[in-house]
Amino acid sequence: MSQHRILTGYRPTGKLHLGHWFGNLQNMLRLQNEYDAFYFVADWHALTSDWQDTSRVYAFGHDMVADWLAAGLDPERCTIYRQSDIPQVIELMLYFNMVLPMSWLERTPSYKEQQANITNKDLSNVGFFLYPSLMAADIAIVKSDQVPVGEDQQPHLELTRELVRRFNATYGDTLVEPQALIAKEGARVPGLDGRKMSKSYGNSIFITDTPDDMRKKAMSCMTDPARKRKDDPGDPAICPLHQIHKLIGKPEDIASWEACCPQGTCGCVAHKQQFADDLVSYFADFQLRRAEIDAQPHLVEEVLAAGKERVLPLAQETITACRDAIGLDLPTAAAASSEATGE
Ligand code: TRP
Repeated sequence: MSQHRILTGYRPTGKLHLGHWFGNLQNMLRLQNEYDAFYFVADWHALTSDWQDTSRVYAFGHDMVADWLAAGLDPERCTIYRQSDIPQVIELMLYFNMVLPMSWLERTPSYKEQQANITNKDLSNVGFFLYPSLMAADIAIVKSDQVPVGEDQQPHLELTRELVRRFNATYGDTLVEPQALIAKEGARVPGLDGRKMSKSYGNSIFITDTPDDMRKKAMSCMTDPARKRKDDPGDPAICPLHQIHKLIGKPEDIASWEACCPQGTCGCVAHKQQFADDLVSYFADFQLRRAEIDAQPHLVEEVLAAGKERVLPLAQETITACRDAIGLDLPTAAAASSEATGE
């Protein structure tokens, strides 16, 4: 196992769907065996956009951790914690805010994009503006030196690196500059309507959907729109149903749909039925373990409490070093004596 410490956080703003399962969670499972992995519930980040309706932040975070455990994240191998349990994160963010020019935040691509695209939430608040600074603090507080990032998070990581360099240049070498660990591209999962699977499009299959709901959704999934009749030739490469089926189906079944569909010798309804069966059985084990976790009402809280115990001392160490570097506290004995002797 590599001693590199990786870290990644997820905002508890909804239930996990197949996009998360194949796009992120499979990576997290693999990385817990290869690195000193830190995974956290980014509940303060959820607040930056959802500050008007906070009613579900706790529940989404709790359920996300239950999903992680049921999927196979092992608290013995990785550190699972909650951002808001580590107050030192905010103190570090404050120090970052001193050296962070406003123009760096203004040019963050996600800032402009989300302000333009998200119209049902008020994102004109300072908290949302400071999102990248909070993220930089998440990373630097535990001295994470590698951060798995997808394309969308790359500008945030770049800003973190610049911010750490500027802090170190201003106050002396204190913080670790993280590298991007370019994650093996997670699968891109289309939604039921062919657009990217996303909670806000209403096109998602959630990993905790009941088997009944999974079947209903499977039967409503879009297929190649050019196929009006059963014997019209279709193109599996542009069929959303087939693209999702590929992720969960048996390879021989996938190959046979790829052979019969372009010839128009098999129908979409039969394909949907097999997809529905495969979907339900693919998630059966996970859902069983999820039910077992729900049957232990304190388990998630215990895992988060253990994570907090592990992270707090690391976070305090970083903060003490920052306070020393900035010169907030009385010089420590060692620093005072070297000053007296002019060293
Ligand atoms: N910004 C990330 C997202 O939107 C969540 C996040 C918060 C994060 N802090 C982080 C990711 C630190 C990696 C490292 O998904």
